[in-house]
Formats: sequence, structure tokens, C-alpha cells
Amino acid sequence: MEGFLVRSPGGQGRPLRGEVRVGGAKNSALKLMAASLLAPGTTTITNLPDILDVDVMARLLDELGCTTRVDHTRAVVEIDVPEELAHHAPYQLVRRLRASISVLGPLLARCGRAEVALPGGDAIGSRGLDMHLEGLERLGAESRIEHGYVVAEATAGLHGAEVGLEFPSVGATENILLAATLADGTTVLDNVAREPEIADLCGMLVAMGARIDGIGSGTLRVEGVRRLSPVEHATVGDRIVGGTWAFAAAIAGGEVEVHGVDPAHLGIVLDKLDRAGAQVTRHEHGFGVRVERRLRSFDVVTLPFPGFPTDLQPFAMALAAVSDGTAMVTENVFEARFMFAQELARLGADVHVDGHHAVVRGRPRLSGAEVVAHDIRAGAALVLAGLAAEGETTVADSFHVDRGYPGFVEQLTGLGVDIERVELADLDDR
Ligand code: EPU
Repeated sequence: MEGFLVRSPGGQGRPLRGEVRVGGAKNSALKLMAASLLAPGTTTITNLPDILDVDVMARLLDELGCTTRVDHTRAVVEIDVPEELAHHAPYQLVRRLRASISVLGPLLARCGRAEVALPGGDAIGSRGLDMHLEGLERLGAESRIEHGYVVAEATAGLHGAEVGLEFPSVGATENILLAATLADGTTVLDNVAREPEIADLCGMLVAMGARIDGIGSGTLRVEGVRRLSPVEHATVGDRIVGGTWAFAAAIAGGEVEVHGVDPAHLGIVLDKLDRAGAQVTRHEHGFGVRVERRLRSFDVVTLPFPGFPTDLQPFAMALAAVSDGTAMVTENVFEARFMFAQELARLGADVHVDGHHAVVRGRPRLSGAEVVAHDIRAGAALVLAGLAAEGETTVADSFHVDRGYPGFVEQLTGLGVDIERVELADLDDR
């Protein structure tokens, strides 16, 4: 089992110093790749993150009849999309990547039929598909679950409709939007997610010839077109990775310059760090965070964008564990994300969870221990907590972190952190 070993003598570590360059957003790139299915021809996506999920998505597209060429050294993927697509997305690939559900909308639009394996459970909550399927049904698709697959059919083709989402789900917004671009007539999609990754997807779709109004707002109006054309599109910078570096500086102290992320995509996060005592400077394509003393605690309530992102909640909790004062952290998006609190407590954090609230009382420092990453963000947040934990911290199951953070160890080392990858004996064998 692979893990990370972080050393922090005295629990204060060394203040971080340096610059990090952030690549394209995982949660955008995978959807842009799925969107390529809408247009026969060669789509090129640049600023591609160097992560395994991209390769899994490429294999899924190949399975659907495309020919993909991923070049991680140039951060580019080229996708040749045929006139005739296959419509079966197999379990072996889908189970490894929940984002693969976003091929459902494009396949329905292009083939009138899609069979996509159910992604299955996830360590951060139940993550249903009801809003995806109800929205696609409004557009004329019938769907059922058969042998572990979502089988959806639109025998008479897709048509425009009014769809109001119960909750601004990122995945449901994307799937319905993708299907609506080629539907017959106008779709009005209300209460949609407003995450920057949705605006990025809309930007690519418009360049492909889609007609979309209301980009960035809570209501998207999509006038269906007959055909879309392939394009070249650059993935938006990864705001969650950028936010992770901001929290790294906040937890360890020091000064970090982040390039490749629009600071407006981290509005509430950077404002909170500012008010807690960090000095934040915003640039056009990045920001700097300078921290000279222990920050004051602050409360966090996760909400869809522009609210505080659930993906940064574990980092906020890790910071609260070493801040001055008490913080209330409320998780409204993924109920099981608080599994992280138990691991943080192993590092000596004073955390009490009650339902979807956690009360965190700050301590000057934590104490190094063996902990386990349950998902991408929890794993990275445990490494950052390790920067303020006296002695050695090992974070097992580092593969989770590698799914979201290209070059994580190298970037931390570049900032002055004492971290290495280590082979750990399976916990059961110790
Ligand atoms: N939900 C339903 N029914 C649906 C759809 C969603 O009940 O049909 C629920 C989910 O169970 C969850 C909530 O709605 O409780 C929000 O889910 P949403 O659909 O917004 O999230 P997602 O599309 O599954 C994406 C990101 C997540 C990120 C969330 C929220 C991808 C591949 N994943 O998930 O990213 O946390 O949006 O911003 O884009 C991560 O990167 O670590 C990660 C988990």
C-alpha cells in the first residue's frame, strides 16, 4: 500500500515558500472530453490535468468508438469522434470514474440510446442519479435500471422542455445541458449549478455551435441545433487545487504564489482567509497567500457555487484544527465527507461531529500519526494537517490524492515541505 510520509519537527514545520502552477480542472476536463462525443470529427482539449482519471475517460471514449490520443507532456488530448458511436459504457471503466456518467446525455443525443453502468457507491455519500434521469425524461428519454446499467432510450428523438432541478446538481446540470444542445426545440433549465466548470463546458459548447443563453446564471436556455462541430478548447484552471495551496499556506504559514487559477473562482474562500488574518493578493490568473501568524478560526457552510465549495471543506476543517478559536463547519452537499473528522482526530484535533455540523476547537499544533485517505480531498487535507503535526504523519492510500493532484509531492517539496512517498504495510498485516 502506498502512502505519504510528512515530517514536521516540533509541529511547526517550515513555513512554505515558493510558487505553484495549477493545471486544468479535473472536474471540467472529464466533462469536456464527454462533450466531444456531440460532434463528429477531431476535438482537441488543452490544459489537461495529468491524472489517471483522464486516461480512464479516454479509454471509455475509445470503447464508444472514438480514437483518443492523450499526451500528458503537452497536456493535450485529441479525440477523433466517428459518425456512428457505440452506446454501451461498461462497468469496468465506469466504476473507476463517477464522471463517466456524463457520457449519458451526449450518447442519448447522438444515438437515441445509451447504456451506462451505474457508477456505484462512493466514499463521500450516496450520490444519486434521480435528477439526471428525471431531466432527461423531460427531454423525451425513457430510462430504467437493468442489470446494473442505466438504459435510456429516446426513440422519437429528444425535444426541448422546461426542467427545474430540485438542487443545483453539477452532474445533472451537465448531463441535461449536453443532451439539450442537440434536442429539437428549446430547453429551459432552471436552478442549475453555477460552478465555473459548468461555464467552461458552456463555453466549449457555444464554440461548437450550441445556442446557450444565461451562462453563469441559475437558468440556462438552450436552443437545440442539428449538428455541432469539433473545436479546440483550453480547460479552466483547477480552483480546488488552487484553493488547496491557499490552505497549505494558511496551515503551515509562509508565502505561496499560485498561478493558473482565476481568483474570482475562489471568492468566498480567499475572503475568509483574508479575514482570518492571511494577506491575500489577487492577480488576473492567480493569487498569493502570505501568513505570518496563527490565523483566527472561521465558520464554514458548504453550498453550491458561489458558496463555500464542499471539495475544500476538509481543508477548512484541518485549518480550524490549528487556528485560534472555535469553528463550526456545516456540510450541506456530501453527507459522508465527515468521515475525514475521525482521521483528523487521530492527529490530535479537537473535533466533534453532530449530524452535518462539526465543531472544531483549535489547538496550537497536532501530533503526527498514521491515518488513511478516504477520498481525494480528505487525503490531501490530511497531508496538510501533517504539516502542523509534531513528528511523522503517514497518510495511507495516497492513490486517492493522485487522482486529483498531479505532482502533489513534487509541488509540496518545491515549497519546502519534507514529504516523500513510502510503501506502507497493509494495516491488516501490522
Ligand atoms: N444528487 C442527487 N441526485 C442526483 C444528483 C446529485 O441526490 O441526481 C446529490 C448528490 O448525492 C450530492 C449532491 O446532490 O449529495 C450534489 O451532487 P452533484 O451532482 O452536485 O455533484 P457531482 O456532479 O456528483 C461534482 C464533482 C464533485 C464535487 C461536486 C459538488 C465531478 C466529477 N465531481 O460531483 O467533486 O464535490 O460536483 O461541487 O465533477 C471531487 O473532486 O473531489 C469531487 C467529489
